[in-house]
Amino acid sequence: EKSGYAHFMLKEIHEQPRAMASTINSRLENGLPELHLPELTDEALRGIERIHIVACGTAMHAGMVGKTAIERLTRVPTEVDIASEFRYRDPIVDKNDLVIIVSQSGETLDTLAALKLAKEKGARTLAIVNVVGSSIARAADYVMYTYAGPEIAVASTKAYSVQLAVLYVFALRLALARGTLTKEETRRYVGELDRLPQLLEGLLADTEHIKYLASLFMNCEDLFYLGRGFDYALSLEGSLKLKEISYIHSEAYAAGELKHGTISLIVDGTPVIALATQDAIFEKTISNVKETKSRGARVILFCKEGVEVPQDVADYVVKLPRYEEIFMPMLLVVPLQLFAYYMAVLRGCDVDKPRNLAKSVTVE
Ligand code: F6R
Repeated sequence: EKSGYAHFMLKEIHEQPRAMASTINSRLENGLPELHLPELTDEALRGIERIHIVACGTAMHAGMVGKTAIERLTRVPTEVDIASEFRYRDPIVDKNDLVIIVSQSGETLDTLAALKLAKEKGARTLAIVNVVGSSIARAADYVMYTYAGPEIAVASTKAYSVQLAVLYVFALRLALARGTLTKEETRRYVGELDRLPQLLEGLLADTEHIKYLASLFMNCEDLFYLGRGFDYALSLEGSLKLKEISYIHSEAYAAGELKHGTISLIVDGTPVIALATQDAIFEKTISNVKETKSRGARVILFCKEGVEVPQDVADYVVKLPRYEEIFMPMLLVVPLQLFAYYMAVLRGCDVDKPRNLAKSVTVE
């Protein structure tokens, strides 16, 4: 039941610290990542030539974060595919590839078909799944379960977060096996993962500011989400969450891409949600945000505490705790989920059961 929360979605957003703790803690041993997959030995991990992450919707967005993390930590070329694209484009996959399938329900038909195709092509398959014993879990060579518990709300929140957590643990383990991270470096990352549930509790303890921002923006018809790298992946997820439950149109754009056409849609008063959590590209994103500001955009900027935000870039700034940068997506998603949730509630939408959507998509 909803345990006092107005909606399952809100309850599930608040369950994230616990879900993350269960998912992460079960995969750490002596301060190092452990996959509990005996067949994926160090030697097997070293033999992987390419990785494909295949999923739909929110799970695919988790895959985009996973791709960036895996490539950054291990330098193994990694692609992300939409399952319904992957399966129909005769993908180039062979026996030295690992295909990672991500699914909350484990029943999404296109995702299951993509998994079967990858197996036919001789690749090894690793499923990251929430529902124990689901079709995808049964069909894959290896399974890493996420421990989110049942997700009832149609819009996925906690399942996304735990998918990120598993992808990060996998990336760290792969990096350790391949020697792209030392034991000491890996331990440092693991130490940061340990702090995550507490940081999430902190973020969830005060949601008033996000609710207030939603009240200011609830009547808008179009929104833009901008970001680069990890923040671009989060833009897509924030935008999807808003669209599916509030029915407000929004677009997610790679910050540097806006000027190649879409900026013509930015006019006086257009809301822009700018995501800039990564130091190395902060200035670049800020200069893109300025381009929208000078055309009249109303900007909410999400960034880290302690960064200096130039004057007149944003109307509102949401500061996230300082944290290991590659793990920032696991913090940033929370205010984006809450923003979509409050927008939908304020507009009187049926948050847990948005129109036209089903919790698990078993049609092609
Ligand atoms: C969005 C959402 C969907 C699912 C997608 C895949 O909030 O829930 O986009 O992520 O239908 O579902 P699973 O993960 O069950 O394969």
